[in-house]
Amino acid sequence: MISHGAYDGPAGRALPFDLWRASLRATPKRVILPISDTVGDGVMTDVETRVAAHYGVADLVASIKAGLVAAGVDLAAAKPGDLKGVDEFHTGGLEATEALLGQLEIWRDMRVVDVGSGLGGTARHMADRHGAHVVGVDLTPTYVDAAADLSAMVGLGARTEFRIGSALTMPVKDEWAELATMFHVGMNIAEKGAMMAEVARVLAPGGRFATFDVMRMGDGDLAFPFPWAEEAAFSFVEAPQVYRRAADAAGLRLVAERERKDFTLDFFGRVFAAMKTAGGPPPVGIHLLMRGTGAEKIRNYVSAVEAGLIAPVEMIFEKPG
Ligand SMILES: C[S@@+](CC[C@H](N)C(=O)[O-])C[C@H]1O[C@@H](n2cnc3c(N)ncnc32)[C@H](O)[C@@H]1O
Repeated sequence: MISHGAYDGPAGRALPFDLWRASLRATPKRVILPISDTVGDGVMTDVETRVAAHYGVADLVASIKAGLVAAGVDLAAAKPGDLKGVDEFHTGGLEATEALLGQLEIWRDMRVVDVGSGLGGTARHMADRHGAHVVGVDLTPTYVDAAADLSAMVGLGARTEFRIGSALTMPVKDEWAELATMFHVGMNIAEKGAMMAEVARVLAPGGRFATFDVMRMGDGDLAFPFPWAEEAAFSFVEAPQVYRRAADAAGLRLVAERERKDFTLDFFGRVFAAMKTAGGPPPVGIHLLMRGTGAEKIRNYVSAVEAGLIAPVEMIFEKPG
């Protein structure tokens, strides 16, 4: 299911999706986001506009379907697992998703918000494996469209819903979610305090927030591009203490934290070895999401992790009940 019709904004105005999409194409200075039940002014910032343009890829679903066919998948019988090479767009893919979600209790019909849901892989995983009802929120229209199409293709359209919106003004009611998740999104968000406050707003008392973000671990220059940003202007990689402080100020209590440097280097070691053996990337892989610069982005990322400058970190917070 996709929500991209007209929403009533805070002032009761109709804010149609098509208006936003058209203005994105024109890369304007200020854009009206389609929102409902949000805090904030509902206006897309310059950084958000650039982030959405960075991730936007034309003909995404067609290229994923072509990859599936090349991998021997019958599209009429495609399963959520067939998409895992491309729809978990974070370090470690499905392995990392399972590693973080395995530390949480997720039950049937649990209400979950996936912040920055991308192609919807993590949302579908929670719906498929646990029977959760997941609302994914993401800035990038092509990803939101693709997430809905892919969910429909694998029979998860009723348990997953994808909405266009900012992590800072989510189209989600106060205290709706029993769990919030966020994989590799905070690197595009400067306002960590506002980000945590918005998560706290949508979480029900007693609810948890689990994130897996790339964070700053040491001093030194970062060589761009990275998978989340072509340039420093829209990259906001911060140290774990920035996340902890922001969460604390939002009333979220840290219950677990784990740095994943070794896992990252091991994972990419296996990926590079498999690519060498196969003579290139698999037909369904995240290279489909990174235009022509995927290899350089991954190389820069792995080098920066190796050098101890950055690393992905898991954090789980709780909103007191
Ligand atoms: C690296 S991708 C990760 C996608 C997904 N979480 C996953 O792991 O497969 C980052 C995603 O965050 C989204 N994003 C970045 N900044 C955002 C913001 N301020 N609000 C909502 N989504 C955002 C992008 O559009 C993109 O889909």
